This record gives sequence, structure tokens and C-alpha cells, in this order.
Amino acid sequence: MSKKIIIGITGSIAAFKAVQLISDLVKKNFRVEVIMSESATKFITPVCIQSLTKRKVYVDTFDDENPAIITHVDIVKDADLFAIIPASAHTIAKLAHGFADNMLTSAFLAATCQKLVAPAMNVHMYENPITQNNIQTLKELGILFVEPINGLLACGDIGNGKLADEEDLLEMIQYALTPKKLKGKNILISAGPTQESIDPVRYITNHSSGKMGYALAKAAFCLGAHVTLVSGPTHLKQPYGIDLKPITSASEMYHTIMPLAPSQDIIIMSAAVGDYACVEIADEKIKKNDDFLHLKLCKNKDILFELGQIKNDHQILCGFAMETEHLIENASEKLKKKNCDIIVANHLKTEGAGFQGDTNIVSILTHSGIKEFGLQSKDSLAYEIFELIMNMEE
Ligand code: CTP
Repeated sequence: MSKKIIIGITGSIAAFKAVQLISDLVKKNFRVEVIMSESATKFITPVCIQSLTKRKVYVDTFDDENPAIITHVDIVKDADLFAIIPASAHTIAKLAHGFADNMLTSAFLAATCQKLVAPAMNVHMYENPITQNNIQTLKELGILFVEPINGLLACGDIGNGKLADEEDLLEMIQYALTPKKLKGKNILISAGPTQESIDPVRYITNHSSGKMGYALAKAAFCLGAHVTLVSGPTHLKQPYGIDLKPITSASEMYHTIMPLAPSQDIIIMSAAVGDYACVEIADEKIKKNDDFLHLKLCKNKDILFELGQIKNDHQILCGFAMETEHLIENASEKLKKKNCDIIVANHLKTEGAGFQGDTNIVSILTHSGIKEFGLQSKDSLAYEIFELIMNMEE
């Protein structure tokens, strides 16, 4: 049975952004019920929303069709999440003080499921201690918040108050719905390519997109871990709630990861770390004079190998192996040589696996055997990897 999410929309110009979010949640197969405040209907219409959800949109508490059912109590009974997106200062104030003066606030008060609030308002309204106190009251009651972002607001002011990006909202919805099986764990994940400079304009890199590492970081966050993501340059958005440490070269990645390693419970090296770097980086742009350009490269430190050398008994170390031939032999060699607990191996030439796409097909090697994982999204594979790690820890 798909999860049921109640989305509450309040009177804010950001209400129009809830339309796209609801459409995307429906496409992701969530059962979405929507409750709007009277003011929200001044910005967008219930008809627009119900065309997406194919369900009645509730506004009026007393609009019960069946006298035997009290809708604001009934609708929340089997809900997995109640999210108010966007939440105005006025609604937040009412929620903090237990007001139940419309369908939205009454249903919110009657709901016992996990709750999430995404504020959107003018910067001064948001920063006003009255609003901040109300937010704090709700946080202390276990209600999750997706903080607004800085930017140009509808009123013309620039500041904090814009509704969070849809990607962050979706990630926090996923967070709210995921059991916290990794709560209390420190997890370090490396992702993306590294870049080795040749001169001020050129560098050596590889085709890694970082998508697998970012999917792992998001899954670990949703499962409740404290996540550090050491990432080479990618085009991906910084995931919500994650401690991102951007690096460029393999050497920078090494120097960032090694001091953090001892305090980690799980380390996953999914980055495509460059194996070689230029012995000398030219200060000025190299001009093309001769037919051949010789670069002298030296081997970078193998970070995974070094982590294997200092690994303690309680730590789980996971590496990746991307091969174009002899996948299992090469991967199992890496498992032993680098003193890892897990190697996630994939074949670069298999369709649906590898660097750039959103899917992967992998064989996962541990010291007790090999498990095959068929074509699936990198997001769902990330959860499978953590499931396997958690089973190893038991
Ligand atoms: N790795 C690392 N440091 C390096 C190179 C690789 O930590 N300098 C890690 C990668 O993050 C990955 C694993 O080692 O988890 C395997 O990387 P891969 O490139 O497949 O193998 P290599 O060890 O570099 O060996 P080869 O290139 O010869 O296959």
C-alpha cells in the first residue's frame, strides 16, 4: 500500500509551488490528500489541485458529505505524514498554540502521524521573534521544519523567507517517512570525480557524475545518520541536511578524509579518485609548440587502501570497483588488498550501469559471498547497500 501524505496549503504566494510538488508526489505513487486554508484559495484554486490528486480538496470544516464521518478527524487516521507547504506566519502561530479554527488546523491537531512544516513569508515576518518562538515551540514538539531560503521575496525584500526548493522538500518528505535505522551513526561518503591540474586552464579528470555517492548520502541522512559528503566537482545540488566538504584534487580528498576517518562508523568510497596527478603544475598556460606534449604524472595515494590500514574493528569500510573486464576477480582482489568489508562492483560496459545514468546494476562482494543487484535507480540501490551494511552489523 502506498504511503498517504496530507498536504496543507496556506495563504502565501508560494502556494503555486505546492502545485508542482503535489503533481510530483502523485507521480511517485503517494496517496495525496490536500487541505487548503481559505486564504490559500485566493492564490490557487482547489480545482487545480484536485485535477492532479483526483481527490476532493478540503477547505471548509463543515463541508462533510456524510454526516457519519467527521472529515478533519477521519482524513488523518491512516496518514503517514502531514506536511504544511507553504506555511504562513499566521498558520504557524495557530499551530503553535493549538488553534483549530479551520479544516487545516483542526486536521493538524487531530493528526498523530509525523508532521512537517515548510514556512514561506516575508523576511521580517520570518525573523520576528514571535514567529521564531512559535517555530521553536513546534520543533520541541517533534515537528520537522524545512527552513526557508534566502532570495528575492514577492514583496520586493531580499532575505530569508522563500519556500525551500522542491528537491529539498522532497528529500525532507522522504526523511520524515523513513525509519531512523542509522540514528547515531557517523557516515562519511566520498563522491564524484577528482580534478588534477595541468596548468591554470587544464586538468585531468574522469566521467564520474557523483550520482551514486549523492544517492548514498541522501539515503544515509533519511535513515537518521550524521552524514559527511566529501565531493569532487559535480553538477549536483547540495543535498539537504548533509555536511558537504567540497574538494578538487585526489590529494585534497585524502587530506579531508583522513582526519575524519577515526570518528566514522561507516565509510563509503564511491568517488572516482584520480590515480595520477601531475608532478608539477605549470604556473602559466602551456603553449602549443611541439607536436607532442609530455606530462610527468605520479601516483596519488590510494585513499581506500590507507583507510583499510587504519580501520578499527567496529568500522565498516566500503569501496567501489568499476571495471571493463574480469569484474568479479578484480573486485575480489580489491576487497582483500584494500582491507574492505564491502566492494560494490559494476561493469562499465553494461547498459544501465556506470557513471552518468540514474540507474545501476552491481555485484556486491563481502567476505561471506557475492550478491547481485539488478537494474534499479541509484536512489533505491543506495537503500539496498545500507540494508546490507545493517545486516552485517547485527
Ligand atoms: N580509490 C581511492 N584512492 C585512489 C583510487 C581509488 O580511494 N587513489 C578507491 C575508489 O574510491 C574506489 C576503489 O578505490 O572505492 C576502487 O577504485 P578503482 O578505480 O576501481 O580501482 P583502483 O584501486 O584505482 O585500481 P585500478 O584503477 O587499477 O582498477
